[in-house]
Amino acid sequence: MNVSIETIDLLEGIATTRAIRRFTPEPVSDDHLARILFAASRAPSGSNRQPFRFVVLRDGPRAREAKAILGRAFRSAWAMKRASDGYESGSGAKTDSPKARMARTMQRFADEFESVPVVVIACHVRYDRPNTYEGASVYPACQNLLLAARAIGLGGVLSTWHLLVENELRAAVGIPDDVFVAATIALGHPEGRHGPVRRRPLGELVYEDGWGEPAPWAVDPPGTRHTRAGPPRAG
Ligand SMILES: Cc1cc2nc3c(=O)[nH]c(=O)nc-3n(C[C@H](O)[C@H](O)[C@H](O)COP(=O)(O)O)c2cc1C
Repeated sequence: MNVSIETIDLLEGIATTRAIRRFTPEPVSDDHLARILFAASRAPSGSNRQPFRFVVLRDGPRAREAKAILGRAFRSAWAMKRASDGYESGSGAKTDSPKARMARTMQRFADEFESVPVVVIACHVRYDRPNTYEGASVYPACQNLLLAARAIGLGGVLSTWHLLVENELRAAVGIPDDVFVAATIALGHPEGRHGPVRRRPLGELVYEDGWGEPAPWAVDPPGTRHTRAGPPRAG
């Protein structure tokens, strides 16, 4: 396989891999999937045990069943989040506010989950008792997967909403009991555009020498735009 496939600079790709939840109906080709999963499988893991496994759901009968199971979970989880995070209140009532736009995107994502072109179930084959750090050997692979998708013009988003239907999902795809289901990743050709990811100013996130101590060199590149942490404000 040709590994020199990056179409964009690595750092540029990292800075523009934002969550994509709106997809065109265009299927994802075998070649694209192979490239993306190759990148995922290059991720580090403890002792290089490579415990990550990926179940790719496209259009087969089991895939359709699993997507329908997940779709129910996503609709129910989003309905709870929409209410608890106040998406209806304050600026959420104004059609063009970022909050209202985000709510529409999320609603459509949940409503049409069965049509997401690809869903990847990211798993971790346990070699130890369940522990708090096992995710550290599977989530880097998930981010590699999303970065690779970005590099070739696709996009996606990771979710843990499968937790609401984990047993049903396991049964539908035959995931054994000793496997940790870490996340699902929706993937496809983006309907919108990729764009810069917004986070808090670097100086708020990086300390030097001690907790809370400023690191004067921790400055964002010129022109970086920021956002606060967490769900939308009440306003
Ligand atoms: C551990 C984790 C869990 C997430 N769970 C969900 C989820 O259940 N549903 C969803 O739509 N997005 C989910 N996301 C995506 C985040 O909402 C998204 O990465 C974050 O808001 C930043 O978005 P941005 O990169 O577009 O700025 C999750 C991301 C992570 C890392």
